[in-house]
Amino acid sequence: MAETISVNGTQHPIPEDPRVSLLDFLRRDVGLTGTKKGCDHGQCGACTVIVNGIRINSCLTLAAMHDGDSVTTIEGLGTPDAPSPLQRAFLEHDGFQCGYCTPGQICSATAMIEELANEWPSDASGDLGAIKLSDEEIRERMSGNLCRCGAYANIVAAIREVAE
Ligand code: FES
Repeated sequence: MAETISVNGTQHPIPEDPRVSLLDFLRRDVGLTGTKKGCDHGQCGACTVIVNGIRINSCLTLAAMHDGDSVTTIEGLGTPDAPSPLQRAFLEHDGFQCGYCTPGQICSATAMIEELANEWPSDASGDLGAIKLSDEEIRERMSGNLCRCGAYANIVAAIREVAE
């Protein structure tokens, strides 16, 4: 059986060339250009996607290493008509200027909030009301995602609104 990667719920064959990064696979082969290439060296976070619930830099891993994995990109989190809570919060708080880092920021923050849910036990209703992160903690947990425009204050505000 052909090796495949699930991207936003759709199966795609892994490229024959074993040197193709997950980032190039997503942008070139799958055609999802929301995931951005910044440094291509694991330093900026623009290429962040969620693999099996974990946020990773897609420029640092090969597509061939992800047979059977489930990848979520920015396109898989929401749509213009039905944005995810974080997508909506980034819009409401102007959590961007040029927008180039935004897909990576939102993918990273989405997985980060899931990490919080695992660290803080929810009550019986699933409410995560006990979560209160300081701005410094949010910045630390999001330190792998750089914004060259310096929109950090608004990015943190957007994430805080959804995380609380
Ligand atoms: Fe992957 Fe910068 S493009 S970390």
